[in-house]
Amino acid sequence: MALPAVPQVKVSRFTQAIEFYRRPLEFLDRCKREHGDFFVLWPPGFPSPVTFIGDPDAIKEIFAADGTDLIESGSIAAPMMESVIGKHSMLILDGAKHRRHRGLIMPFFARAQFARFGDEILRLVDERIDTWPIGRQFPVRDETRRITLEVILRIIFGGIGLQTIGSALLRDFFSRTPSPLIFLRWLQKDLGPFSPWGRFLRLRDQLYGIITAEMEQRRAQPAAADGDILSALMEARDERGGAMETQEILDEIFTLIGAGNDTTATALSWAIYHIWSDPDVLNRLRQELAPAANMESAASFMVGLPYLEATVKEVLRISPIFPLVLRRLNQPMQLGRYHLPAGSLVAPSIYLVHYRSDIWKNPERFNPDRFLDARYPSNHFLPFGGGVRHCIGAALATYEMKLILGRIVVRTELKLRSGYVPRPRWRVNFLGPSEDVPVTVLARTGTSETSAAI
Ligand code: HEM
Repeated sequence: MALPAVPQVKVSRFTQAIEFYRRPLEFLDRCKREHGDFFVLWPPGFPSPVTFIGDPDAIKEIFAADGTDLIESGSIAAPMMESVIGKHSMLILDGAKHRRHRGLIMPFFARAQFARFGDEILRLVDERIDTWPIGRQFPVRDETRRITLEVILRIIFGGIGLQTIGSALLRDFFSRTPSPLIFLRWLQKDLGPFSPWGRFLRLRDQLYGIITAEMEQRRAQPAAADGDILSALMEARDERGGAMETQEILDEIFTLIGAGNDTTATALSWAIYHIWSDPDVLNRLRQELAPAANMESAASFMVGLPYLEATVKEVLRISPIFPLVLRRLNQPMQLGRYHLPAGSLVAPSIYLVHYRSDIWKNPERFNPDRFLDARYPSNHFLPFGGGVRHCIGAALATYEMKLILGRIVVRTELKLRSGYVPRPRWRVNFLGPSEDVPVTVLARTGTSETSAAI
């Protein structure tokens, strides 16, 4: 008997686009209520309709086939992103080329490689905390972005690189969320240095020049290298002994800064909202972190704390910044009881799985305890996607989040504006809180200032 096709969402394409843009999670909930774990809708900006999947078993099958000829992903993003991030970025590669780049870059993203930056990350957080005004609301999003940008620049270019490289220019380039307009091909016209695309190209070329000069200097004086990602990429060799070309390195460096900065900062904004709206969670974190307050070198202690780790995981479960990942089927596939033809775009939905009541008890409730004693399979807890495209920075992101949040908990007393409930809002391709999380610093340790409000 022929298998049925996946049900289509029964509202006009225009309404689908508007709903998905304005109320993405409510709309996905509605589609699931009406159609179950599989439904087809056409989100704005996508080249064709997409089959959304909230069934963990089907998602497991998709991730298992990832990296084979059956499935690809880079080619979906390529038409929009290639001109911005470069044709060698792993985000838009598939098959053997994608495997080669991941193989060359992955070793650096093992935790042991960046753990030695831990205390330096804490110092970067301290520098920012010291500037937060007492008794006034401070811009959480800008501050978390500043910290995560400093961390990624430090890890990529090392201490030496940051001083010599055009760091002000780099910071300026990556400190703002790019306008989604930059990805529209028909607006990518170089009309001189004052046109948006012309300005982007000139700035990017300038940065390419600065990083290439830094690479040349390192080749001339290898001892100056600092065990950072730039050096790791320059030294990386594939199984045939081949090195990465300069442009490949440049594209991957831009990819890592672009993919690793705003994402982690946005997850931190969600974390600040969830933690500071739940006094019990905050108190338990304070108790667990208390010994870190007097430690000279606290990073390795902090990253091993179970409740802090459980809290970060619960933030990523309840507010997954990416509600979906995307794949294209190169051959027909049966998923669940449905037939999906070759060429179908499928979206394993992180959000739908993270809110399944048959996996998570009271999924709407923020409850870090659920991660204390249980381990969840990778098709139940998937904030970083899965298969061969599983986020390359996942370990770094959770490591950073633990240190940044832990330090804020230890050093500050914050107050969240009462009654504040954020709505998820698109920031290019991921979801952040609708307005900046409204937090006031009541006090901080390490300085003499305190607020009268305490
Ligand atoms: C909380 C922070 C982060 C979240 C939630 C996140 C989530 C994700 C997700 C869902 C994907 C797609 C996976 C898939 O298609 O199955 C992804 C891919 C990726 N992420 Fe992250 N990410 C975060 C931080 C980072 C960081 C810190 C870096 C690098 C420094 C990074 C670099 C990348 C790259 C390069 C890819 C593409 C991998 C590939 O296509 O092979 N991400 N991330």
